[in-house]
Amino acid sequence: MTANLLDGKALATHIRQQLQQQVQTRFAQGLRPPGLAVVLVGNNPASQVYVRHKRNACAEVGFISKAYDLPQTSSQAELLDLLDQLNADETIDGILVQLPLPSQIDTETVIERIRPDKDVDGFHPYNVGRLALRLPLLRSCTPKGIMTLLNHTKIPLEGQDAIIIGQSNIVGRPMALELLAARCTITVCHSRTCNLAGKISQADIVVVAIGQANFVQGNWIKPGAVIIDVGMNRLSDGRLVGDVEFANAAKRASWITPVPGGVGPMTVASLLENTLQAAQNHP
Ligand code: GUN
Repeated sequence: MTANLLDGKALATHIRQQLQQQVQTRFAQGLRPPGLAVVLVGNNPASQVYVRHKRNACAEVGFISKAYDLPQTSSQAELLDLLDQLNADETIDGILVQLPLPSQIDTETVIERIRPDKDVDGFHPYNVGRLALRLPLLRSCTPKGIMTLLNHTKIPLEGQDAIIIGQSNIVGRPMALELLAARCTITVCHSRTCNLAGKISQADIVVVAIGQANFVQGNWIKPGAVIIDVGMNRLSDGRLVGDVEFANAAKRASWITPVPGGVGPMTVASLLENTLQAAQNHP
């Protein structure tokens, strides 16, 4: 292996320590702790794990985390009623509705019901639009965490050719907007993209978020490229792997994120940062 590791776990730990101190500063100023409402509908096992991590991280830094676990059969009206209550609750600074939602609930309607200044996931069209206009307020957590990791490592971005594999609203699209704002030249690829390997082999920065184990082959990587692997795939033998063939890619890349311990902890750290940011705007 020649690549350096982009250690998201270590940086996220550092960010959480700083957030803990900022909560203490708020207490010293007579301010309340930031409050995050985490809403989980149903019993998707992966969502349960993600939500547990988010709630534990909140508690660790001294935020108030309120859990709302709704049954799988909940109606859209019930969820919207809860969001109206949370929107009006002065002790709640951030609202997170874990996705995916059960099929009887329309995701866009739910996201648009969250007050944009409490939308700590950065999924509301208002917040995505602000990012598109280079006027970001609350930014989507995974792309924001990746930008924090790249900037912390002082990886140059201006003028670099960046490719994003995956066009989801949660990662691919806001990631493209982040890298564009950082003055990269961006290519966004998806299931209809032609000559994917050829495009990846031209890129200085590669962000992969498609959810297919070891999909990006190491020999597609341009020597010296920076590889950001957002994938978290559980193999039948229980191992957790990303969307990139890690060992082969690491022979060619200059920097690479491990899975686990790369992007995942940065997503949670960004959620905490967004919650503090929202609290600072709700005195
Ligand atoms: N599902 C997968 N990733 C996310 C995320 O970052 N936020 C929410 N709310 N749901 C998700």
